[in-house]
Amino acid sequence: MAKNTIKGNAIPKHIAIIMDGNGRWAKARLRPRSYGHKKGVDRMIGLMEHAFDLGVDYITVYALSTENLRRPQKELDGLFELIRTRFLDCMRKVCARGARLRIIGERALLPADVQEILAQSEDETKHFTGKGINVALAYGSRAEIVRAANLAVEKGETLTEERLSELLYTGGQPDPDLIIRTGKEVRLSNFLLWQAAYAELYFSDKMFPEFSDSDLDEAIAYFSSKTRRYGKTDEQIEKGE
Ligand code: IPE
Ligand code: IPE
Ligand code: MG
Repeated sequence: MAKNTIKGNAIPKHIAIIMDGNGRWAKARLRPRSYGHKKGVDRMIGLMEHAFDLGVDYITVYALSTENLRRPQKELDGLFELIRTRFLDCMRKVCARGARLRIIGERALLPADVQEILAQSEDETKHFTGKGINVALAYGSRAEIVRAANLAVEKGETLTEERLSELLYTGGQPDPDLIIRTGKEVRLSNFLLWQAAYAELYFSDKMFPEFSDSDLDEAIAYFSSKTRRYGKTDEQIEKGE
């Protein structure tokens, strides 16, 4: 769907993307999985730029789950090498639009030099406010919730929904309005389970490296066609109650 068919007021503030299908995309082209991941990084940057152009404020991408750390070491080494060689440049390029970068996940599980690169990228963008990019690495939503709960326990606090939200890695940010998953699977795979409570979910059969800017437009058009009732009736929503 063309960009100009999307109503300005219907642009999601926060889009989260489960970037799945890199390996299958490469395999179908008789290329190694690492080639799929490389193409996936290029597409990730393109989609982030396109989303910011459309007026999206926050973008969260699922790049590596805690469970993915059980993949063969060779594949993991390839992914870490991509971070070493591409991450700083890529993030400088997109964050130049005024976006603050946050790495969400259990970063201590990543190699020490990779952790340093991530910290440096975050540091370079820490003065930006209003727009944000979250890159989920060694991320698991259940672990994130348990971590937040334990932070409250350590402080002797009683949790409320608002306080738990604040203690998550995404604390202070709006919840995702739209969660997109590429790669044909219809599941969340331990991604933003708490934050997804009222997100619209969009599943694409396309593998991530082939998910184009116009595919993102289509996902946003789907989002804008939905009425978000938050438990109320259509009549209440029409009256603005
Ligand atoms: C998603 O693509 C990226 C990561 C999990 C790192 P996959 O690597 O899961 O690709 P498929 O699902 O095997 O095609
Ligand atoms: C989800 O994809 C994680 C990322 C995209 C980083 P997976 O390929 O790991 O998901 P499952 O294992 O098929 O659920
Ligand atoms: Mg997969």
